[in-house]
Amino acid sequence: MSAAFKAMNKKIVFRQLERGDFASLKRLFNSLFVVQHPEAFFLWQSFEYLSPVLIMGAFHGDELIGTFGIQKRTLENGLVCGRANWPAVHSMWQGKSIFSELTRRVMSQFGDLDLIFNFYPVRARGPVENSLGMKMFDTPEMVLSSPGEFENPDVTVSRASANTIFRRIERRKQNMFMFKNTQEYRSWRYARHPVYVYEVIEINTGEYAVIKNFIDPVTKDTYGDIVDIECDHNDREKIKRLILGACWRLRAQGMANLTIWAMPNTKLREVVEEIGFNEGERGKYYFGLKVLNAQHDYLYNFPKWRLQQCDSVKY
Ligand SMILES: CC(C)(COP(=O)(O)OP(=O)(O)OC[C@H]1O[C@@H](n2cnc3c(N)ncnc32)[C@H](O)[C@@H]1OP(=O)(O)O)[C@@H](O)C(=O)NCCC(=O)NCCS
Repeated sequence: MSAAFKAMNKKIVFRQLERGDFASLKRLFNSLFVVQHPEAFFLWQSFEYLSPVLIMGAFHGDELIGTFGIQKRTLENGLVCGRANWPAVHSMWQGKSIFSELTRRVMSQFGDLDLIFNFYPVRARGPVENSLGMKMFDTPEMVLSSPGEFENPDVTVSRASANTIFRRIERRKQNMFMFKNTQEYRSWRYARHPVYVYEVIEINTGEYAVIKNFIDPVTKDTYGDIVDIECDHNDREKIKRLILGACWRLRAQGMANLTIWAMPNTKLREVVEEIGFNEGERGKYYFGLKVLNAQHDYLYNFPKWRLQQCDSVKY
């Protein structure tokens, strides 16, 4: 325990969360966020992941007042990543170094990670930069809000389910950084998601996009998110067919704002701009990254990342 923290908070106990703590996790998170998730969401994300996660909790008596944890992922190039997740401190306890103490305790248990990352809202930026030493980059959200229908292109639509095969499409080798979306990961992420329904939009050559609907609980604005695209990143023609297929389906479902992440200077970005998407700002989000193994400092070259909405657990 750091000296400053010790002097301030004698009555706080830190321990790893267990499955039986998920109701407390739900209570803490739902007190901090507008979007309220059911218990099943916290179970799925925390205790039903593909590999064990470590979530450290800060308790004041029986009450869970803070959390931080690590969920492992890999990059396409095989590097091991930790999603630096569950950053939360009860509003009565914020600004008392509890988050710093949680991150210190969690990070001391991981010696095998090449990097840590996650996507953070503005309000978490300062604490995350300070406690974890992350560098922050803007996420490349593109939005199409102008009205209009899309023609039905030649795509098939299916609901992501336990039977869905998320094929891997061969791509030309490229010097870029992406999170690896395996069959197992996509099945957990889409088919087993306890809240959102995901659909797979496929073209006849096997490439596909994954989409979902979101209705803002406060404003009632409707969002159609294109969360994932499995396609050769240089194949402009197929990318366009996929995006048009996704737009057609989302508009047919009544979604007014269509969104996708598309990095500048990519074929995907060219295609979505051509269709009419513009840079958006829906609750300003950052990609936080810290390289733990200095031999991989090249990862700070942000334009080389190919981020997708599915890399964030929000979408
Ligand atoms: C983000 C959050 C977890 C931080 O928890 P916290 O206990 O208030 O953070 P701490 O007091 O431990 O602050 C962390 C460090 O960042 C520093 N810090 C805090 N706010 C800061 C700011 N705005 N700018 C720069 N540094 C800041 C603190 O000085 C501290 O460093 P120290 O321990 O060396 O003093 C908490 O505010 C929270 O739960 N917010 C709402 C939920 C949320 O948005 N979570 C993120 C969702 S992804």
